[in-house]
Amino acid sequence: MPSALFSPFKLRKLTLANRIVVSPMCQYSAVDGCATDWHLVHWGQLLQSSAGMFTIEATAVSPTARITYGCLGLYDEACENALAERLAIARGNAPPMPVAIQLAHAGRKGSSQVPWEGGQLIPRDAGGWTPVAPSTIPQLPNEPPPAALDAAGIGQIKREFVAAAKRAARLGLDALELHCAHGYLLHEFLSPLSNRRTDAYGGSFDNRVRFPLEVFAAVRHAWPHDKPMGVRISATDWVDGGWTIEDSIALVRRLKSAGCDWIDTSSGGISPAQKIPLGPGYQVHLAREIRRATSIATMAVGLITEAKQAEAIVASGDADLVAMARALLWDPRWPWHAAAALGAQIRAPQQYWRSAPREAPNAIANAKLGMR
Ligand SMILES: Cc1cc2nc3c(=O)[nH]c(=O)nc-3n(C[C@H](O)[C@H](O)[C@H](O)COP(=O)(O)O)c2cc1C
Repeated sequence: MPSALFSPFKLRKLTLANRIVVSPMCQYSAVDGCATDWHLVHWGQLLQSSAGMFTIEATAVSPTARITYGCLGLYDEACENALAERLAIARGNAPPMPVAIQLAHAGRKGSSQVPWEGGQLIPRDAGGWTPVAPSTIPQLPNEPPPAALDAAGIGQIKREFVAAAKRAARLGLDALELHCAHGYLLHEFLSPLSNRRTDAYGGSFDNRVRFPLEVFAAVRHAWPHDKPMGVRISATDWVDGGWTIEDSIALVRRLKSAGCDWIDTSSGGISPAQKIPLGPGYQVHLAREIRRATSIATMAVGLITEAKQAEAIVASGDADLVAMARALLWDPRWPWHAAAALGAQIRAPQQYWRSAPREAPNAIANAKLGMR
């Protein structure tokens, strides 16, 4: 039986060589939103992973859309040029792999310290900025409240998403993912825990989904029609009275008719009261439920670490794609080892063609060598 994990998958005109996606991972290593040489090295090694698609980390649509001062941005010429330069070198030294970018706004989680410095809110008087949100409800109860966006602010952020999408298109990126998860701005609009607005953007389900759907539609319009666009959602808040899987299914139906090509099914992040039943593949059932209810392509993510586990997720129809984060940092050649274990093939740079182990001598596609 050929491997399901290593079978190709089509999203609009884009074909992924296999179902493994490098999940977006903030590196907190940008300067003024600009990619640095760290990104070159990080992207370089993951672009050699032979995953089906690489996703660039949450990329802010404005300076105050960043989570931290180290977050990557795509809001001015300098960001665009830095990203173009580093990515061209990384891509130029790896076998071809589609590259997606995740566009994001941190909302009330903005102005945070980088994780290795503690991740806490940097107040305005300590050099931070006042984060924005749908309502003046802080992420943590002891924090100063964020500023509630007014209609002008909402319109401005929508335009910033569109401008970033146009820059991403100019960079020749292959796919775009809108970050509507993990307690950041668009998720904050969705969840009744963070959205207590009394205007057209809060209250009922229809009102809470309005802004994320408006951003989706505006970005979809700006992003080339033949290129796929997906959305990462937190399919449940894991809190009583919060956003639920039923809400997610209702949202996904609307996203699908607005031209959404995949749902990247994550969860949580909106509240410190969340109770997440962590364990292998703990979010896979959310991808399965969404896929069954809506027939949209889903990406499963979260503690997927074993080749057989990933194979079973795709083969059983729980999800079309498997996104991986920590396991790929731990072992950037995970797809190579998975291919060897499943009797499939990966694409390696020609410099590494001699590396296939004895037990899987044919794991590298098209490898041919000669020496005198
Ligand atoms: C270092 C790191 C950075 C992350 N940054 C992002 C990000 O930029 N955007 C996002 O949606 N999720 C982010 N995540 C979450 C991952 O994409 C992924 O959903 C999560 O880690 C669960 O998958 P895993 O068990 O394979 O790591 C990050 C995770 C890690 C470990």
